[in-house]
Amino acid sequence: MSQIDIFDTTLRDGEQSAGINLNTAEKIEIARQLERLGVTIIESGFPASSPGDFDAVQRIAGTVKNSIVTGLSRSMKADIDRTWDALKGAEQPHIHIFLATSPIHMEHKLMKTPEQVVDIAVESVRYAKKFFPLVQWSAEDASRSDPEFLVHIIKKVIEAGATTINLPDTVGYATPAEYGAMFRYMTENVPGIENVKLSAHCHNDLGMATANTLAAIENGATQVEGTINGIGERAGNVALEEIAVALHIRKQFYEIETGINLNEIKRSSQLVSQLTGSIIQPNKAVVGKNAFAHESGIHQDGMLKNPLTYEIITPELIGDAATELVMGKHSGRHAFRDRAVKMGFELPDDKLNEAFVEFKKLADRKKQITEDDLFVLLTDQQIND
Ligand code: KIV
Ligand code: ZN
Repeated sequence: MSQIDIFDTTLRDGEQSAGINLNTAEKIEIARQLERLGVTIIESGFPASSPGDFDAVQRIAGTVKNSIVTGLSRSMKADIDRTWDALKGAEQPHIHIFLATSPIHMEHKLMKTPEQVVDIAVESVRYAKKFFPLVQWSAEDASRSDPEFLVHIIKKVIEAGATTINLPDTVGYATPAEYGAMFRYMTENVPGIENVKLSAHCHNDLGMATANTLAAIENGATQVEGTINGIGERAGNVALEEIAVALHIRKQFYEIETGINLNEIKRSSQLVSQLTGSIIQPNKAVVGKNAFAHESGIHQDGMLKNPLTYEIITPELIGDAATELVMGKHSGRHAFRDRAVKMGFELPDDKLNEAFVEFKKLADRKKQITEDDLFVLLTDQQIND
């Protein structure tokens, strides 16, 4: 088994979601929970972006001891100085510097030539290295960059002292095969790449963030970045809980440990949802309300005979309550009887069948059958017994 680092950016890229704004106390609460979850690195904010972010990063650096705390910085001395001021009290000061490398970003956003971009990147990493032992350098929009240019600039920033190289799919454009191939290419062509961490950072614009992150892992990534519940710019970042659980459930295939305390996943997800006000879609993988709910009769029957028929993840694994067999119009007699017994109703077969017929009629009329509905229905049969 090899080990992969989990870099959580809920408090930075996650907070960049439209409509999300966390205050310092809320950020500290989330950071503490991320520490309990066991993430390797917490990106706690962007210190040069606002006094509030500076304050939050500084306080988190003073609070969190078991995860490395980092802050984002543009490739400029003023930003790096500000980040150092926020993080100098951290156990292991770490900075995350980024600079765009794709033709579209260099020409239209930075308005710099590729040679100028290399010089800025090298200079910023060298400068950051005066303060920080750990310097992560990100090639923003890496997946739309020229691979030869990436090889060149990465070699230069490693020589300048970068300890982690991050290759973001900034706009969620890459396919898993392309993103994986980029990692393979860098591991085979950048001299010295084996001495640094190689990181994946995926956005979900085309719904491929989880597949892309796993492809990067299969092709040499040793760190993955993402957020809890997949919050983030536009369609969000990769959801870290999906990566951690996928690597666990398919550990015979991946043979990779994440160090994540899986039974803290549900708590982390709920806390982030509550404090950001960002609702989790019901069918969201791993943490959605329906992730462990079974409604159809055939599935419920299978679950009652052997849960392995339809459940590859148990709710207990992620610290959730037990599996729910939801009573609805697709539910079968087996699940209905099981629920009745669990509610304390021991009806003879004919009564149970009558109750089941009434239940099906009600389920056709009503979207959701509650415990109270079942109680009334079963009590009626008991009284008429
Ligand atoms: O998506 C991205 O490129 C980023 C960088 C700042 C790393 O978030
Ligand atoms: Zn991002």
